[in-house]
Amino acid sequence: MIVLGFESSCDETGVAVVSAERGLLAHALYSQVDMHQAYGGVVPELASRDHVRRVLPLTRQALDDAGLTLDDVDAIAYTAGPGLAGALLVGASVAQAIAWARDLPSIAIHHLEGHLLSPLLATPRPEFPFVALLVSGGHTQLMRVDGVARYELLGETLDDAAGEAFDKTAKLLGLGYPGGPALSRLAESGDAGRFDLPRPKLHSPDLDFSFSGLKTAVLTRMKSLDPDDAQARADLAAATQDAIVSVLVAKAAKALEATGLKRLVVAGGVGANRLLRERLAAHLARLRAQAFFPPLELCTDNGAMIAFAAALRLQAGLADPTERHMSFTVQP
Ligand code: KG4
Ligand code: ZN
Repeated sequence: MIVLGFESSCDETGVAVVSAERGLLAHALYSQVDMHQAYGGVVPELASRDHVRRVLPLTRQALDDAGLTLDDVDAIAYTAGPGLAGALLVGASVAQAIAWARDLPSIAIHHLEGHLLSPLLATPRPEFPFVALLVSGGHTQLMRVDGVARYELLGETLDDAAGEAFDKTAKLLGLGYPGGPALSRLAESGDAGRFDLPRPKLHSPDLDFSFSGLKTAVLTRMKSLDPDDAQARADLAAATQDAIVSVLVAKAAKALEATGLKRLVVAGGVGANRLLRERLAAHLARLRAQAFFPPLELCTDNGAMIAFAAALRLQAGLADPTERHMSFTVQP
């Protein structure tokens, strides 16, 4: 079974072809990062317009790279939310149009389910059940995953998401958008030990997170610094990254302990962070547990995870293959 999937919830246009049996066949991706950089963040109207420009050439590219045509496709998948409404509508409308023209099922996928299942595209593929640490720009959640569509929320952020904490502190440090990769690059030349930043909820018994206090702490430290002191900025970036990563690692380990599970799957954009990958792998090895990450290019938004989630749902009998009408049930 071949699924063609569309992702357009934010600033990446992603189109992918996935086989339920063989995994990812091809994916094409266009990131609008350069366009939004000048504004310091995503401009929704510009994002929607650019998705319109990119989506059909990317569809052609994904099909060509897979050596397939629309005749080979059995189902269409699209991100139904959450995300920017205008941006989501582009992917949803194109997907619906193709599904309608070809009389194919169209499967609405929750963006976070796409992220959550994306580590199953990696080799080795983690077995169910596992704990998932979902760390994106909009969400920070720990979930118990027993199978496709069998998800239990264990804990989540009470305020800012981990990616948001990276983005907001990066902005304070005068770094570009998106902040996560920029901050972690600057952190490489910094000394994390120079500033003692708060590690919110590090020792709380629950599995929740809170990151909003961190940016206030960074702002306070910034005020006492010489703005021309480049080394101090790098040190502050390293301390910020260290604080965020320490909390994520501690809570992920606590979730494994609470569930008695030995497999942790990391998904979402912050999963691309190198320090997080290294610290998690080392810490879990000590617990005789294993960490699984999606391939780096599939950590941030992409069409592959959407097509793949739909393929798994169809395979498990959890998506209606006779579905023909526009379904937009997932709230942005
Ligand atoms: O999953 P994603 O692409 O989009 C959402 O669904 O939000 O995640 C984007 C987030 C942004 O906050 C970005 O700064 C962060 O992931 N991010 C990183 C890194 N790469 C992306 N954060 C830390 N280190 C990175 N290397
Ligand atoms: Zn995402």
